[in-house]
Amino acid sequence: MTVEEPKQNPTHALYKPNFRTERYPKNRTPWISSFEQYKAMHEQSINEPDVFWRLRASELVEFNTPFHTVCSGSLSEGNVKWFEGGKLNISYNCVDRWAEKTPDAVAIIYEADQPGGAKSVTYKELLDQVSRIAGVFKSFGLEKGDTVAIYMPMVPEAAATMLACTRLGLVHNVVFAGFSAHSLAERIRDSNSKVVVTSDQGLRGGKIIHNKKIVDEALLTCPSVTKVLVFERTGAEVPMQQGRDVSWSKALSEQNEFVPPVFVDSEDPMFIMYTSGSTGKPKGLLHTTAGYLVGVAMTARYSFDLSSGDVICSTADVGWITGHSYAVYGPLCLGVTTVIFESIPNYPDGSRLWKVVEDHKVTHLYTAPTAIRSLRRLGDEFVNCTDLSSLRVIASVGEPINPEAWVWYKSVVGKDLCPVVDTYWQTETGSHLITAIPFATTTKPGSATFPMFGIEPAILDPNTGEELTGPNVKGVLCIKKPWPSIARSILGDHDRYLTTYMHAYKGVYFTGDAAMRDEDGYYWINGRVDDVINVSGHRMSTAEIESAIIQNESVAESAVVGIEDEITGQSICAFVTLQAGLKESDQIKKSIIAKIRSEIGPIATPKNLVFVNELPKNRFGKILRRILRKIASGESDQLGDLSTVADPHSITELVARVHIML
Ligand code: PRX
Repeated sequence: MTVEEPKQNPTHALYKPNFRTERYPKNRTPWISSFEQYKAMHEQSINEPDVFWRLRASELVEFNTPFHTVCSGSLSEGNVKWFEGGKLNISYNCVDRWAEKTPDAVAIIYEADQPGGAKSVTYKELLDQVSRIAGVFKSFGLEKGDTVAIYMPMVPEAAATMLACTRLGLVHNVVFAGFSAHSLAERIRDSNSKVVVTSDQGLRGGKIIHNKKIVDEALLTCPSVTKVLVFERTGAEVPMQQGRDVSWSKALSEQNEFVPPVFVDSEDPMFIMYTSGSTGKPKGLLHTTAGYLVGVAMTARYSFDLSSGDVICSTADVGWITGHSYAVYGPLCLGVTTVIFESIPNYPDGSRLWKVVEDHKVTHLYTAPTAIRSLRRLGDEFVNCTDLSSLRVIASVGEPINPEAWVWYKSVVGKDLCPVVDTYWQTETGSHLITAIPFATTTKPGSATFPMFGIEPAILDPNTGEELTGPNVKGVLCIKKPWPSIARSILGDHDRYLTTYMHAYKGVYFTGDAAMRDEDGYYWINGRVDDVINVSGHRMSTAEIESAIIQNESVAESAVVGIEDEITGQSICAFVTLQAGLKESDQIKKSIIAKIRSEIGPIATPKNLVFVNELPKNRFGKILRRILRKIASGESDQLGDLSTVADPHSITELVARVHIML
């Protein structure tokens, strides 16, 4: 395995935090206000994990029955358990306790797709809604441990549905409502979901998404589903199947009894989240209850310096892990206000996201480098015409952020008065692994900086597995010790969990990312080392896209690679060879793209699709993606060692072909 040079070009610029000169309220001090404090807490979290986590758990989460053991099991055995013996309820922690304490505090601000359609939901109102949905679930006969698939737009009702699942100990499986019927069906079947919650339609950037229609199509192949609860988002007429489909407004209005929370065991399953891996089959990562909640609440508090009274806007959809951890569970467990943003940052124009900050006095903004880069390209005027003086912390997630975008975020959006917090983590990790602490860490643009509490990173030589200690080393990034919010398994395939994460390198968790640690100990994440592409922070497997492409009968072979893209971080480039005797045509190209969209969803559409006569292979017939990546990136002069290529002449033809096509 080779680890390429970091793309972020480490700079020597240093940004020292100082909450007294930044926009910090006079009557408060940050949770962590110095690097020494961060270091002391980090050391304790590694050297005395029991003490550290017992304290965090008791500060952040209410257990109905106290736990007896903080942590047991090991990474290598893949049997980690946290807070055993404890009983708790997630919706109680995120809703009831605030509804009792501060009933009129705002839990959710809903910023609808069309500007001007905002509304607020207080904790008291949220509790009422969560209880009603839980009542509907009970009427469907759902019981603790059953799974509910959620295919919803980014509306407060989606968050309330997730919370209603946790209220009864049901496992939720949120599928991003941009995935195709085929992908949705695959996820419903794999998770054995009994109920689907969806909406008549969705709205995103002014476009209508036909959610119910997609669900209907998916359910043709999902016999396990007995009920579909349909939230009326637009009120459009949609076909309702008698006996199966239930109107949200009607069903909720019929609920008149309060549904109390069901206290579950710390290690009871909480949710499944599908993500892409190196093979064609998405992985259903299983997260459990107490560890996940403590992990997200702890990181939300310290990585963002969040406290009650704050307003966080995490632009990620609830269909992704960021939406789960930092739009719903982290903020609500801390009793703060979360903005659920249904639209996209540039709809109807480039000032939309900034208007959201201004209108709702957002204190914490959490978005992806792709959004930052594309909004930057639209020009500073879109930012400068809005009042962003409420912002205190601005954060980034999902992909490496290039220093230019980082500096723009810091100076133009944050007016050099807000720390930039680049948070590195994964669906598998549940919460932040490497991140700056806003008022403690001196930051370097493009570096995620230092490990979060409880995280002990190691950089390993990718080939020998040996740990590379000291400064200025690069290799694969692994984590040495378990942390509470790590996914416990891949649903139905614990062996895959073990081989992918726990046994790739001995005794450690393998992230799948390359990283560099510089002379000051800062971590720089350098992207995936497996066949996973990250487009706009969305993870996709090359194998999954290839298997959609070769379903087209004209196609003989295909190879998909990710190449660098100025805005989206990476973009998808597909190389395709056709069956003998067939000539490439626009029609074939269109039908291949249509197949990808229907198999996976529009997010997997390749930016480039190139027909070639032959794919470069080694003598054993393995496709040499490294070469394709170089050629597609315009680096045909840096192809390196070609001695393993079975037919070196094919490369010359390929280079000429790609040169014309791209
Ligand atoms: O490659 C890393 C990249 O996104 C991957 C995880 O993707 P996903 O599970 O979809 O979760 C995304 C949101 C947490 C990682 O393996 N990644 C995520 N955050 C960063 C990042 N790469 C660099 N810097 C980050 N801050």
